[in-house]
Amino acid sequence: MNLLTISELSKAEIDALVERAIELKAMRAEGTPHKVLDGKTLGLIFEKASTRTRVSFEAGMNQLGGGSVFLSQEASQIGRGEPVKDTARVMSRYVDAVVIRTFGHGIIEEFAEYADVPVINGLTDMHHPCQVLADVMTMVEEKGSYDGLKVAWIGDGNNMANSWIEVATILGFDLSIACPEGYCPEEVITAEAGGNVKVCTTVEAAVEGADVLNTDVWASMGQEEEQKIRIEAFKGYQINAEMLRLAKSDAMVMHCLPAHRGEEITDEVIEGKNSVVWNQAENRLHIQKAILERLIK
Ligand code: CP
Ligand code: NVA
Repeated sequence: MNLLTISELSKAEIDALVERAIELKAMRAEGTPHKVLDGKTLGLIFEKASTRTRVSFEAGMNQLGGGSVFLSQEASQIGRGEPVKDTARVMSRYVDAVVIRTFGHGIIEEFAEYADVPVINGLTDMHHPCQVLADVMTMVEEKGSYDGLKVAWIGDGNNMANSWIEVATILGFDLSIACPEGYCPEEVITAEAGGNVKVCTTVEAAVEGADVLNTDVWASMGQEEEQKIRIEAFKGYQINAEMLRLAKSDAMVMHCLPAHRGEEITDEVIEGKNSVVWNQAENRLHIQKAILERLIK
């Protein structure tokens, strides 16, 4: 069993992961041991930079009683062209699960096809399922439930937006996506979206009365050379105090981080009372421990 996209999960499975993550969070806070993966090893293969994903998976695996091995593109044979299918078969002989962060989603699909151990998506150009599961956990903690919430996605129709579309389709809360023309999520994702997901509406329509405002960087990893063009294209899509006033007064502001203050979000808003970004980042640890337990144990 793998976790490559949110769509592979049912509503009941997402609810169970969130419930277990909340339990594991409480156990860690109380100091209750939960070494359910004693003697197991997690492999991590990262072809892009990371702070949260790498550290939360490695720390999480330690807390569960296991260990981890990290491979970067430069420090492994992957960077010298060893085929994905060979790496997958070899890694499967050493470790109990693999987290991959890479570019094309096809790379992780090929890896999963050849691997004999669970493969977890730590971000591809198309999906970021672990982040969005942590985000759902954060909504449940902060608002009691995701039922009946209006969530606005403001900015790029990127990997994060795609995983949000998938999770909203499964869980049924309202999701309004506002992106500049030319930066909307791809048809392959929107074609499968539920009626509760509105794609490429105006910023005002998306933010008006929203319970949750959500954004991400305007240029994702691998798009660095488009940075200047994107800053122009995304004018009007910044989450700032003026935009926040259109949402509910207790709206949560989310950002998967890393953030570019002054671009997609202002310093005032990310540091302000509506921001939940630090709890959101912390929840990566807890939800991924629930995922590891479910896939490996
Ligand atoms: N949000 C997230 O995935 O952060 P990292 O790139 O630091 O892993
Ligand atoms: N959309 C961003 C998310 C980073 C966690 C990227 O892919 O770079």
